[in-house]
Amino acid sequence: MEKRVGIIGYGSIGKEIIAATRRYEIPNARVVALFDKESTVFNSVDHDTGELHLFSDFDEFYNSKIYSNIDIIIECASKGAVKEYGKKIIESKKDLIVLSVGAFSDEDYLREMQNLSNLNNTRILIPTGAIAGLDSIRSVKKYLNTLTIVTTKNPKSLVGAPYFKSSKIRIDEISKETVLFEGNAIDAIELFPANVNVAVSIALAGIGLVKTQVKIVADPTLSVNKHEIVGEGTFGKIHIVVQNIPSPSNPRTSYLASLSAIECLRGLCNENFRIGT
Ligand SMILES: NC(=O)c1ccc[n+]([C@@H]2O[C@H](COP(=O)([O-])OP(=O)(O)OC[C@H]3O[C@@H](n4cnc5c(N)ncnc54)[C@H](O)[C@@H]3O)[C@@H](O)[C@H]2O)c1
Repeated sequence: MEKRVGIIGYGSIGKEIIAATRRYEIPNARVVALFDKESTVFNSVDHDTGELHLFSDFDEFYNSKIYSNIDIIIECASKGAVKEYGKKIIESKKDLIVLSVGAFSDEDYLREMQNLSNLNNTRILIPTGAIAGLDSIRSVKKYLNTLTIVTTKNPKSLVGAPYFKSSKIRIDEISKETVLFEGNAIDAIELFPANVNVAVSIALAGIGLVKTQVKIVADPTLSVNKHEIVGEGTFGKIHIVVQNIPSPSNPRTSYLASLSAIECLRGLCNENFRIGT
């Protein structure tokens, strides 16, 4: 059965999702609305789109007839967007796919959202995003002793991170591989909210935000976004390395993140056959 989809955030991920639906790569999915707080982003929307409704005001979107008919909302905007609209979306009984998973580093908020989705019988889905292996980490979580992620990016992919406001390191002066941060997943996402959503995802799948160790490295010679994840415990060892091409329109975001969101939507719209845990 066809599912009606609304997208929050028409940036690099939102555009790739729209492009995939136009190429009929997501059977049973019809994107009917886009909401982005910046109306200028819609200048690039191909208006040859039939029934695509555009909103730049959340209340207008939320109160529209088109919203009431939506089945699935995909958030690909920002941590702030999840916090601002997440509860309303769940209370209105929509399934919610969350890309800005950093919002769930606030564990009280995460619990509130989980309770609300139970009450309203909806689903909150976190795609694997820019990494691989969340299913395996989730499977072994009870048997994990340590979980670490090392994220290495070109400084260009880290531009705008709040970390640089308080650090002595100047982003434009990084000339060699430089460790910027070592600590837990909560502090990592505070300092790099647009860069290490994956650290929060693996933490939530595994041993939690406090125990998950994160290292963030800037390397000006690197042209890919690299994530190396190691989980060790009584089950054995998982070692995952992912080297991602940055999205052409947003170097902070890996192209794999868009593909993962598309695959998550494809799974939700075609639930009779699923590969992977
Ligand atoms: N889970 C993962 O592995 C993963 C990987 C990459 C990116 N991300 C996250 O996904 C999100 C989208 O990434 P992107 O590359 O498409 O970003 P982008 O910057 O290219 O686009 C984001 C769009 O969302 C809009 N937006 C931001 N806050 C909003 C709000 N409060 N209300 C309405 N619109 C808002 C912006 O105007 C922009 O057009 C980001 O938060 C990013 O950190 C997650």
